[in-house]
Amino acid sequence: MEIRPCSAEDLVGLQARWPIPGSDIHAAHFAAQQTGSAAYLVAWRGGLPVGSGMVQWGGCVGPHARSAHPGCIEFNHLQVRPEERGSGVGSALIAAAEDLIRSRGHPEVGIGVAADNPAAAALYRRLGYELTGVRDTIAYTWFDGDGAAHDEIEHDELLVKALRAQRRTSPTSGPQVG
Ligand SMILES: CC(C)(COP(=O)(O)OP(=O)(O)OC[C@H]1O[C@@H](n2cnc3c(N)ncnc32)[C@H](O)[C@@H]1OP(=O)(O)O)[C@@H](O)C(=O)NCCC(=O)NCCS
Repeated sequence: MEIRPCSAEDLVGLQARWPIPGSDIHAAHFAAQQTGSAAYLVAWRGGLPVGSGMVQWGGCVGPHARSAHPGCIEFNHLQVRPEERGSGVGSALIAAAEDLIRSRGHPEVGIGVAADNPAAAALYRRLGYELTGVRDTIAYTWFDGDGAAHDEIEHDELLVKALRAQRRTSPTSGPQVG
């Protein structure tokens, strides 16, 4: 599996191999990335897109999360194709997002999870995320297989994880002390 920020060429493959009826969400996410406000990470397995998520460089989207954790970078819109779930794609996307966020020197990553999604919350906690008790109400629209729009209101709790700077090693620097 390879995880990389979506390129213009990837976008064509995404639209062809992972069509989402009713809305070109891939193009919208790619456009956000092109403005510099986000990174659209896509996981590929055998040439097929199997999952994706957005790193929001502007911080947490929800106003309560934003004011409680101002230095936190949110990873959202995480989704794995239904037939690929439970095989490590989501965990790998989260690890890739953490690496990217850490590489830009940000100290904290956050994920909002809906109250009715305890399985996702359990996964995030297993990956080191902590509940904050900070909640926001998020309105969004999703499209079913027939392209019909569904408006949803979700009550999300922010989970956060501190990102430690990775130790640099050099073959000539010898063992690190202290
Ligand atoms: C939540 C989600 C991103 C996890 O990705 P994934 O690739 O299935 O996760 P992984 O394979 O790395 O980890 C598996 C764990 O995820 C959790 N999980 C949550 N929802 C799951 C689902 N629908 N199917 C399988 N595992 C799921 C389970 O705890 C599972 O642990 P287990 O193997 O001990 O049962 C993915 O299942 C998904 O897209 N769900 C629908 C959309 C969604 O809920 N997005 C998250 C919004 S916060």
